[in-house]
Amino acid sequence: METDVETEERWRRGRLIPALYDHAVEHEGVARLAARLMWGADVRPLLGAFTAPGRLPPGSAVLDVPCGGGVAFRGLPPGDGLHYVAADLSPAMLGRARAQAARRGLRIGFAQASVDGLPFAAGTFDLCVTYNGLHCFPDPASAVAEMARVLRAGAVLRGTALVTGVGARQDALAALLRRSGEFGPPVSAAELRGWLADAGLRDVEVALSGALAYFTAAKPA
Ligand SMILES: C[S@@+](CC[C@H](N)C(=O)[O-])C[C@H]1O[C@@H](n2cnc3c(N)ncnc32)[C@H](O)[C@@H]1O
Repeated sequence: METDVETEERWRRGRLIPALYDHAVEHEGVARLAARLMWGADVRPLLGAFTAPGRLPPGSAVLDVPCGGGVAFRGLPPGDGLHYVAADLSPAMLGRARAQAARRGLRIGFAQASVDGLPFAAGTFDLCVTYNGLHCFPDPASAVAEMARVLRAGAVLRGTALVTGVGARQDALAALLRRSGEFGPPVSAAELRGWLADAGLRDVEVALSGALAYFTAAKPA
């Protein structure tokens, strides 16, 4: 089995898997079908969640990590009313995200960074979105703590992650992706709740759709 360091290197250096993954998520019909078949999940609420940054007051700071190819940009309002920063470990994904932002006419800041050590001061962001990343990270508990660190008091962490313990078929698929190095250590819904609470976040909500966990939590004001 690949080690967690190898998993991180695979995402950092890979080109084919990022391209294949991103191609699938860019096409809503493909993404919906794949999520249903592979994970028993409905991704329509995820598509709705992408509009959350647009409901913040102008000037709000948003961190999107891992941004991947910029799938969450589709919910952003045009213009530069938000201070939106997209971060990812993979140069290939960041390249795709930059192209996506250019196509949509969005002004976005980009950072090549690992979620293990975000290059931002504590209390920088009003919202952090983390879609489909936790199950790929080498140390998801530390990643949650690091994302919580960069939130301002009262700010929200919102995301999705694939969790284990929901069905044998989904667990087998996750184990396969762990062996091939795309996934990090297993994440259960109970662990996810615990990590969010341990990071000092409150109002923790975790809702499952198949093996996809939708979660939100807030930093106390
Ligand atoms: C499954 S993709 C999700 C991307 C995007 N949020 C989405 O929903 O399409 C996982 C992403 O995590 C990134 N990644 C993996 N390990 C990382 C790490 N340690 N720090 C930051 N990003 C990482 C990968 O490069 C990849 O873009």
